[in-house]
Amino acid sequence: MRVLSGIQPTGRFHWGNYFGAIRQYIALQDEDESYYFIADLHALTTVRDPEVLRQNVHDAALDLLALGLDPSRATLFVQSDVPEVSELCWLLMTGAPMGLLERCHAYKEKKAKGLSASAGLFTYPVLMAADILAYDSDVVPVGEDQMQHIEVCRDLAASFNHHFGEVFVMPKGKVLDASAKVPGTDGEKMSKSYGNTLEVFEETGPLKKKIMRIVTDSRPMEDPKEPDDDHLYQLYSLFATAAEREEMAALYRRGGFGYGEIKQAVFAAADAYFAEPRARRAELAAQPEKVREILADGASRARKKAGEVLRRAQEACGLK
Ligand code: TYM
Repeated sequence: MRVLSGIQPTGRFHWGNYFGAIRQYIALQDEDESYYFIADLHALTTVRDPEVLRQNVHDAALDLLALGLDPSRATLFVQSDVPEVSELCWLLMTGAPMGLLERCHAYKEKKAKGLSASAGLFTYPVLMAADILAYDSDVVPVGEDQMQHIEVCRDLAASFNHHFGEVFVMPKGKVLDASAKVPGTDGEKMSKSYGNTLEVFEETGPLKKKIMRIVTDSRPMEDPKEPDDDHLYQLYSLFATAAEREEMAALYRRGGFGYGEIKQAVFAAADAYFAEPRARRAELAAQPEKVREILADGASRARKKAGEVLRRAQEACGLK
């Protein structure tokens, strides 16, 4: 089985990225082959400052390695280091129906807000399809918000295969039910664009402040509450063992507690959970040359595979 996923370097990774996606990358890195990349070409649709983009890519690599991605087991690379993918994107673009892309949520939401969208944002799902198809990926671990894009990828692959013969492997998305959609500090999906994120490598002081500001309802302390509907409980559950979750759920149902206590528990759990990666990250940050070598090695392995698939697609459609 071949596993692939990508993550945008648009800022520091948050709990949604970790529990929805990165944790799956690490769990799946022992499959036959796994490819994980930093999607800088996608990020260019929103990050327009070259220094910021460069820094974000470096930070993303440090974060992924510190969280447990092991370059001896998984191929870690930067998207733009594999130009074959952009070429494959064009081949897919020639067969991508406008209507299909118009229905994709990133573009649709921007339009609905009356904002002007770039062609890059509009065709974003086609580049994502090229990312996936270029490595003959079987499984794509993601959070729920990316499932629509994987459906688009499958549509584009099926229509190319139908027209030109069996060129592409049909991929499947993989979400973890428990954290398919991690809530943010306001209860909406945690997302940079909503400004409601809690970052994985946030310093202790600011993290505590952000957690203490999590929005809660104003029901009286003594009221019993349904834990599953509460985003603070959902955030706590990300870190807790089954027994701890049960205990917390019982407290909710009994009532008679303040949300401040639960926030303190979320903070303590998160701080302990990420302590080891934080220490590893500090060590790695002192070795930028090592990180560059890992990415260069990953890119050369990724190019080999993407080159094979690109040639297969080019031949099939009459370009070679
Ligand atoms: P991106 O960078 O927005 O997010 C990276 C991963 O984090 C997941 N995620 C979440 N999961 C659960 N709850 C949340 N609140 C939450 N927020 C984010 C996302 O689902 C994603 O898995 N288009 C992709 C990047 C990409 C890609 C690809 C992914 C480019 N090419 C090819 C897979 C395959 C994106 O913007 O993810």
